Amino acid sequence: MGIPRHVAIIMDGNGRWAKKRLLPRVAGHREGMKRMVSLSDHAFDAGVEYVTLYALSCENLFRPQAELDGLFELFRTYFTQNVEHLVQKNISLRVIGDLALLPSDIALLARKGEERTAGGTRGTLVLAVAYGGRQELLSAVNAAVRGGKELDEEGFRGLLSTAEFPDPDLLIRTGNEKRLSNFLLWQSAYTELYFSEKMFPAFTDADLDRALKDYAGRERRYGRI
Ligand code: IPE
Ligand code: IPE
Ligand code: MG
Repeated sequence: MGIPRHVAIIMDGNGRWAKKRLLPRVAGHREGMKRMVSLSDHAFDAGVEYVTLYALSCENLFRPQAELDGLFELFRTYFTQNVEHLVQKNISLRVIGDLALLPSDIALLARKGEERTAGGTRGTLVLAVAYGGRQELLSAVNAAVRGGKELDEEGFRGLLSTAEFPDPDLLIRTGNEKRLSNFLLWQSAYTELYFSEKMFPAFTDADLDRALKDYAGRERRYGRI
């Protein structure tokens, strides 16, 4: 199969990683964010063109406010410190999800980051924040209803927040859980799934290489023979 063009990652296990080390959950998120930056660099170096990272689900917004405040602070840090890094790496940043559910300064930083990196041609980093697959599908359905005419698959795809990106070829979930948790429900119809027992902060570049190697050995049939 070669190198997947698009890798999506459900970065799960930050809290348990921290708990095991008797650290506050937000320390796990901090470590996870560091890992996320290096891991996406590594994926692009390996030849992946699109990396989509699930950073916060709509449902995560119901976590205790103290944890959310810690996460929001990390997003601020990410958008202020990592955007220039992406520019240097010639990577464009895209943010999907309902940014209206976040503090308004974060939404602004996210849009600014997208503008600043818009010229990046080596790859696209898609950050899913306040994202939910069902919410995305519903808003596409409502847009279709407003449009007043029936759509085909391509037409519907065009209404999703991921309209400009190919579907993920490989979806990795860390943290030893085997579920999608409302991530890319439409887009992952024929995606290859890979589950790792490692908590996200402990998921190394070598672990990613293992997942890529596993993918390379698979046969994708898309229902055919
Ligand atoms: C994933 O780690 C990051 C977010 C959901 C924000 P978790 O915070 O879900 O970590 P666990 O699953 O509790 O270990
Ligand atoms: C999925 O992890 C969301 C992200 C990694 C951003 P969760 O920890 O929210 O998933 P569940 O609750 O275990 O399904
Ligand atoms: Mg979790």
